[in-house]
Amino acid sequence: MESLKQNLGLEVEIDGWVYNIRSSGAILFLLIRDGTGIVQCIASKKELPPDAFLSAKKLTQESSLIVRGRVREDARAPGGVELDLCDIQVGQIAEEYPISLKEHGVAFLMENRHLWLRSSRQHAILRIRATIIKAMRDFMDDRSFLLVDSPILTPAAAEGTSTLFSVDYFGQPAYLSQSGQLYNEATCIAFGKTYCFGPAFRAEKSSTRRHLTELWMLEPEAAYFTFEDNLRLQEDLVCFIVEQVLEKRKRELESLERDITKLESIQPPFPRLTYDQALEILQAEGQPLPWGEDFGAPHEQILSARYQKPLFVTHFPACCKAFYMQPDPQRPEVTLSADLLAPEGYGEIIGGSERIHSLALLEKRIQEHEYPPEIYHWYLDLRRYGSVPHAGFGMGVERTVAWLCHLEHIRESIPLPRMLERIYP
Ligand code: 4AD
Ligand code: MG
Repeated sequence: MESLKQNLGLEVEIDGWVYNIRSSGAILFLLIRDGTGIVQCIASKKELPPDAFLSAKKLTQESSLIVRGRVREDARAPGGVELDLCDIQVGQIAEEYPISLKEHGVAFLMENRHLWLRSSRQHAILRIRATIIKAMRDFMDDRSFLLVDSPILTPAAAEGTSTLFSVDYFGQPAYLSQSGQLYNEATCIAFGKTYCFGPAFRAEKSSTRRHLTELWMLEPEAAYFTFEDNLRLQEDLVCFIVEQVLEKRKRELESLERDITKLESIQPPFPRLTYDQALEILQAEGQPLPWGEDFGAPHEQILSARYQKPLFVTHFPACCKAFYMQPDPQRPEVTLSADLLAPEGYGEIIGGSERIHSLALLEKRIQEHEYPPEIYHWYLDLRRYGSVPHAGFGMGVERTVAWLCHLEHIRESIPLPRMLERIYP
């Protein structure tokens, strides 16, 4: 559809579907979509072969068809052009389509998500998603991080045992991966700088606006990387993604009525608060949290609402974060970790840290968490053979999409969301 404007006066073919149809005697007004856009078409009885006009009169919303027509400029039409049709080949006449162009409730739309994907709002969101993913991968490739994918079937927990999905692996217990990080630690010692991009699974038992059970994550990991290197990389990555979306998807952002000025102000450096400073703010704002507990959505909301840019919260207590986080040498009860909270109330989009590189300390942590040591034998090997300080992070695709598109709920950020109460369609 993009190229129609360059074909004024010429005859073109569109392979598509009926988005909407209106008839007025000897003229049909069709909105036709081909997956890339929508074009307005005029089918008049006197310009079409008689059979074609008769069969076109039976068209319904979402019927498939192939049309030929001449492109004419029309400033009032969507896309600035209209087609005067000279032929219509009807494919399948669609049954009465459940999603009309009027408003529907969310529960109904979710049940029909496989059809809902055809609407222009979902097109805008999922095109932005594709641009975000491409930006993530281009950024890592340009920074010489090697793409090395991590397995999905795993014998061990990466992010705590409470959100594991179990699978029966030929009679042995196995789980769907919560994160590729532990394997990235092996590949970054092998290759220096690596990343994986793939799905992660979390058996989240609560139903919120921000949690999926199947999500996609970008996870870079780099040998000899420090806490500071890790934060800089995140800042640059987030700014690059925002810049790419603004450059390539402005029209989609506008169609979602996204306030673009809010995205234009996303520039480095990002503000930082330590966990302890964040607790003081929460106390003052009437949402006190005992030291050692991780934030919930209301806490993240209060903190991020104070800034126009993403906010780093750093130095989380060891007791509320994953077992592999490196303690701060100045203050071992806190870790060299950071969460990046998106502005406008979207909460955590990135979690990352330096990793423990001492064999003895990592063995101790595995014991404290009562993890079966034999399953982590290979992971401990990374500390036995050429251990170095290293760091990395995980960035959630859907939380990023929700923020950049300003969505009310994460369910629209992925083609077919998986949530506590949804695995259909
Ligand atoms: O903070 P998380 O749990 O970090 C890890 O998994 C690390 N192992 C990553 C790493 O260092 N390589 O998850 C990382 C990000 C979160 O910040 C969030 O954006 C997203 O993944 N995420 C979720 N998104 C949607 N639904 C969920 N249930 C999510 N859980 C995590
Ligand atoms: Mg986290």
